[in-house]
Amino acid sequence: MEKIPSDLLGAIDELRKARKAVILAHYYQEPDIQDIADYIGDSLQLARAAQKTDAEVILFCGVHFMAETAKILNPTRTVLIPDMKAGCSLADSCPAPLLQRMKDRHPNAKVVSYINCSAAVKAISDVICTSSNAERVIRSFPAEQEIIFAPDRNLGAWLQKQTGRQMQLWPGTCQVHETFNERKLIELATRNPGAKVVAHPECEPTLLAYADFVGSTSALLDYVTRTDAPAFIVATESGILHQMKKQAPGKNLIPLPGMDENCACNECPHMRRNTLEKIYLALRDMQPRLEMGEELRLAALKPLEAMMALG
Ligand code: 13P
Ligand code: SF4
Repeated sequence: MEKIPSDLLGAIDELRKARKAVILAHYYQEPDIQDIADYIGDSLQLARAAQKTDAEVILFCGVHFMAETAKILNPTRTVLIPDMKAGCSLADSCPAPLLQRMKDRHPNAKVVSYINCSAAVKAISDVICTSSNAERVIRSFPAEQEIIFAPDRNLGAWLQKQTGRQMQLWPGTCQVHETFNERKLIELATRNPGAKVVAHPECEPTLLAYADFVGSTSALLDYVTRTDAPAFIVATESGILHQMKKQAPGKNLIPLPGMDENCACNECPHMRRNTLEKIYLALRDMQPRLEMGEELRLAALKPLEAMMALG
């Protein structure tokens, strides 16, 4: 058993200073992790923060593909992740060799990949997108351009609806967002007639059909903060509620449960692998460390830069 100091927050703070580290945290992290982070954001905001930071060490409190993205964008920094096993069902659903086969079947198609994918998938993509900028990225292609969209079929279907573009969709899903309970949503909306429904585009189309607003985690936070309504039913990972409660105090925030109301299905089990104890150990030992070969990094950087160039 590792010895953990009793003043864990103080110890993390000391190490953060000693290592010249910045702690980046996604909105889906536990509240106690969000509260110690130097910067909290959605996938796009965190990628930008990782790219710009002049800290020597980036401790990425999120999942593996996010830490990988930080390393691709800022290779001279040491990138740490509290738990190397923090994966993502979307990234796992799309092995690069299988995506390559799809590309081979559609030789004229451009590949747009959601940032929730491995570096190997990024390396064979033309441009990356996040849920914040996906619509802009798709609209940047001429109408006649054939597009393969990977790996989230729900985000892909949402983009098809928004843009009127047909795309070849990779059949991946987020294990958290695909589990939301439509029957429970109807029940909650009926019981709270003034409530607005907000949803992340990784949700199934049947669920998105009920949403008053669909957007990335930061867009949902912004909508809840600025919209005058007494209550919001929130269809995304429940970690976002921590910032919503802070930024929209007094509003009734109702997290939508998963299919099994008794499980914590609206919490991402990968994101929740990270703990304060693992953050302390990562800063103390400078491990686990994200390393990447330069050839792969450069190939994966190209589509990320193409995304950044679109603003
Ligand atoms: P955003 O951070 O773009 O909202 O995506 C949510 C998500 O599922 C991250 O894994
Ligand atoms: Fe992946 Fe879904 Fe977890 Fe995000 S919430 S990291 S998409 S499994």
